[in-house]
Amino acid sequence: MLTKIAVLGVGRVGTAVARAALDAGLAVNVAASGSAEDIALIAEIITPGAAAHTAQDAVADADLVVVAVPLNKYRTLDPAMLEGKIVVDVMNHWAEVDGSLAEVSEDPRRTSEIVAAHLSGSRVVKTLNHIGYHEIEDDARRGSTDGRRALAIAGDDAEAVAAVTELVDRIGFEPVFAGPLAVGAVFEAGTPIFFGSFDAEEMRRALADADVAVPEAVVVGAH
Ligand SMILES: NC(=O)c1ccc[n+]([C@@H]2O[C@H](COP(=O)([O-])OP(=O)(O)OC[C@H]3O[C@@H](n4cnc5c(N)ncnc54)[C@H](OP(=O)(O)O)[C@@H]3O)[C@@H](O)[C@H]2O)c1
Repeated sequence: MLTKIAVLGVGRVGTAVARAALDAGLAVNVAASGSAEDIALIAEIITPGAAAHTAQDAVADADLVVVAVPLNKYRTLDPAMLEGKIVVDVMNHWAEVDGSLAEVSEDPRRTSEIVAAHLSGSRVVKTLNHIGYHEIEDDARRGSTDGRRALAIAGDDAEAVAAVTELVDRIGFEPVFAGPLAVGAVFEAGTPIFFGSFDAEEMRRALADADVAVPEAVVVGAH
């Protein structure tokens, strides 16, 4: 059972995830690229209840780490700091926020695979990238699970997927396991799933219809 998460990035999506997790009863550490003092006021006003830290301190005692930094900053994430951690990759290659990255465009791997290769000691799970930051609060439904909005989850490690499944459920969304990390391609920026909003049944259909071979699932949770 999750008790504490860290969120790296206190921009639009990071603060929305932090608030949603706090509302769900989780303890939340937040950090940006600088000191705890730099973000103390943001944390107090925008994510009240979250503890402001440096990234190093934020992740130290967290059960999982949500990485909500622009993709063009992924190399500034210290792999040693995230060694052994479950990392939730919410990043996209979305020009408006992330810039147009030749390095990513020219790489045949999907964005989460590139991130996972950089964070080679972490267990990377992709989700929460295909929902607008404002919708994280608008569409969350805790308590009743009937017909609530679904979020796709892709990851290679069963334990990490289970932890992220719990997070998605607790913040008020229906977790739908899509397959290994490479399958995250089907809900990357620019895909129909990225632009859509689906309940669990619709999400399963959208995943099945997506034109990517889904390898044998590494884990299929309760959802
Ligand atoms: N906006 C959305 O609705 C949305 C939804 C889902 C996914 N996404 C994706 O999520 C990512 C973040 O988007 P955003 O709109 O939230 O960006 P944003 O508002 O620009 O915020 C980025 C945050 O990342 C921090 N940061 C940068 N490098 C860092 C590092 N090494 N360690 C810790 N924090 C660091 C920045 O802090 P400093 O000021 O200290 O650099 C800033 O707080 C993007 O890839 C985006 O495509 C966005």
